[in-house]
Amino acid sequence: MRVLIFDTAEKAVVHTARLIVEQVQARGDSVLGLATGATMVPIYAALRAAYRAGQISFAQVTTFNLDEYLGLSPADPRSYRATMQAELFDHVDIDPARTHLPIGDTPDPKAEAARYEAAIAAAGGIDLQLLGIGRNGHIGFNEPISSLTSRTRVKALTPDTRAANAHYFPDDDMPRFALTMGVGTIMEARHCLMLATGPAKADAVAATIEGPLSAACPASVLQMHRRATVVLDRSAAGRLKLWGHYAQVEEDR
Ligand code: F6R
Repeated sequence: MRVLIFDTAEKAVVHTARLIVEQVQARGDSVLGLATGATMVPIYAALRAAYRAGQISFAQVTTFNLDEYLGLSPADPRSYRATMQAELFDHVDIDPARTHLPIGDTPDPKAEAARYEAAIAAAGGIDLQLLGIGRNGHIGFNEPISSLTSRTRVKALTPDTRAANAHYFPDDDMPRFALTMGVGTIMEARHCLMLATGPAKADAVAATIEGPLSAACPASVLQMHRRATVVLDRSAAGRLKLWGHYAQVEEDR
């Protein structure tokens, strides 16, 4: 695991976005695994800027998002599909047919999960999987005690996750379930790139990097990944103990 600690969240974001840009520059037909959530908002702003500046084209890129709320249609503005359209897809030259998220209002979630797995395999697997982390250590919506070999499936959201995202659902109708890539699905990505910023993530980050490998903190499975990069700001790194082991990057490259 490569752990990079930046003194500010802005620098952590710049570095993470740069790694994604470099992936697409190196391979124009990259398959990117994407994440949503507040942490990723500045990442998509940086990718839009890189596209506007002519640094990258998404014309041959394929994307698979980690998850979608069960029951929300793609047209629902609170869906992750709508979020991705607004934050990235509508602003760049990506082929809509190459953008994939689980369909939240599917009548058959089990079949939809199997379809999603098959689509990832048909695309040749994921080159770079962007990950955030929940305060409870979830990746995607693989909540604590998720099987570390799980595949795309329906997961119940924990009270903590529902509380963290409740502000997106002011009418108090936050979905109770999500369709999410499994931990095993995520682990098959050729490179996992996690970004965590802010003090609320410090406990989960410490458990991920220095804790025991455990389904109690699904993100800790990254300890077993052959190529995992974890980008942190100082506050998200605040509960780490083995500081001498990590790259502390004062200046962005
Ligand atoms: C969303 C996802 C989640 C988020 C996590 C952190 O697609 O995969 O695991 O990355 O809940 O969310 P924020 O960034 O809002 O704290």
